[in-house]
Amino acid sequence: MFTSVILAAGMGTRMKSKMPKVIHKVCGKPLCKWVIDAAKEAGSEDVCAVIGHGADELRKTIGDICSFAIQAEQKGTGHAVMQAADFIEKAQTVVILCGDTPLVRSETIKQAVEYHNKNGSKATVMTAILPDATGYGRIVRDADGSVIKIVEQKDATEEEKKIREVNSGMFVFDAQSLMYALGKIEPNNAQGEYYLTDTLEILIAAGKKVGAYTIEDSDEIHGINDRVLLSRAEEAMRRRINEMHMRNGVTMRIPESIYIEDGVEIGTDTEIQPNVTIKSGTKIGSDCVIGSGSVLDGAVIHDNVDILSSVILNSEVDAGTHVGPFAYIRPNCHVGKDVKVGDFVELKNSNIDDGTKISHLTYIGDSDVGKRVNFGCGTVTCNYDGKNKYRTVIGNDCFVGCNTNFVSPINVGDGVYIAAGSTITEDIPENSLSIARARQVNKEGWKDKRK
Ligand code: UD1
Ligand code: MG
Repeated sequence: MFTSVILAAGMGTRMKSKMPKVIHKVCGKPLCKWVIDAAKEAGSEDVCAVIGHGADELRKTIGDICSFAIQAEQKGTGHAVMQAADFIEKAQTVVILCGDTPLVRSETIKQAVEYHNKNGSKATVMTAILPDATGYGRIVRDADGSVIKIVEQKDATEEEKKIREVNSGMFVFDAQSLMYALGKIEPNNAQGEYYLTDTLEILIAAGKKVGAYTIEDSDEIHGINDRVLLSRAEEAMRRRINEMHMRNGVTMRIPESIYIEDGVEIGTDTEIQPNVTIKSGTKIGSDCVIGSGSVLDGAVIHDNVDILSSVILNSEVDAGTHVGPFAYIRPNCHVGKDVKVGDFVELKNSNIDDGTKISHLTYIGDSDVGKRVNFGCGTVTCNYDGKNKYRTVIGNDCFVGCNTNFVSPINVGDGVYIAAGSTITEDIPENSLSIARARQVNKEGWKDKRK
């Protein structure tokens, strides 16, 4: 059993952003939320985030998934942990994580805690071996390989700078020992800060056992300091997410081109074609094809749906339906089973019932359309009078001729036929033929008379 403290009070100056660093997103989820979720998945009973810079915004973004401690002035990582003293005093084992290292895996946290417990250590630093350790704190070991201390880049000797084993910034502590060591750290270093890293030396001096757990995949420790590192973390996370879906039975033609956010569900034998964006909250069934260029955001797509180069926002599409190419389904639509939403069709805040066909160049907004309706090309619901929006209701088995306008509010009964080119301004009773256009006049020989 353990609890976690997440350090997230820093400025993040190098992001050059109005927002605090840790709410920048990787694959649709704020950096610090990745870390909080990993801690919880690893079994952390409780999580406390230490926040300072942009605290109000952070609280709003993170919500009530953890508790908070405030570090009003950023005086170093040791000082940050001290702000969570009330929280730490209630705990037995404490894991320290950084809000800007979103790639840490829950299994890694779990394994580090197990290693710490098995060794009976009072402090365990999670380390990694990097080809280039520049900028990181270095792990200094003695001749037997026991950890002696961590030295920051700015305080390191030339010899120490050659060490490639680095401090990930993540630790496991015995809570009491942590409180004891925090009480003894001093800001006498190159940066004039209270370094959390100094706690190791303090504990060793007090005769306590200190260890190191080396993380195999060094990607996991990558902290984000600027937008280049943000994009690299996103690349790594995107690969993880796509591989998870592929292992679950999803086909991806060019996975590097596919962007899928956290928290998306995709059924087996669904194929995702190149250049597709799928955002959080989207659920896709089995045996679907999500064609090139599609963007799905908060979409619920049932089995056997085929979507080509289309945009679907916060809407539901039932099984067997075909969408696109170039359809735009805006929020709050429900599209039924075996429907066709063809090219250059826009739907908004509408219900389209089973078996209806809207094949091309049509706008349907604020409407309830029945089953098996056929829309001719170029149908428009005129749902807005400049002030208010009105609904159009169309019954089952209607046939709407090409270029029909519905000046809503309009009610159309079942089985109605509408002549092409009609502008419908009044309700139509069931089973009628409605023609609402001027009659054609042909003036024969007109051209010759004009001369
Ligand atoms: C720290 C470690 C370094 C390690 C590196 C790993 C120390 C002294 N150094 O260095 O050994 O290799 O992380 O990335 O611990 N923070 C606060 N309040 C503060 C200062 C920092 O909340 O007063 C938070 C930051 O928001 C960040 C984390 O602590 O999430 C790390 O701080 P940062 O300034 O990035 O430390 P580094 O210099 O990178
Ligand atoms: Mg850092």
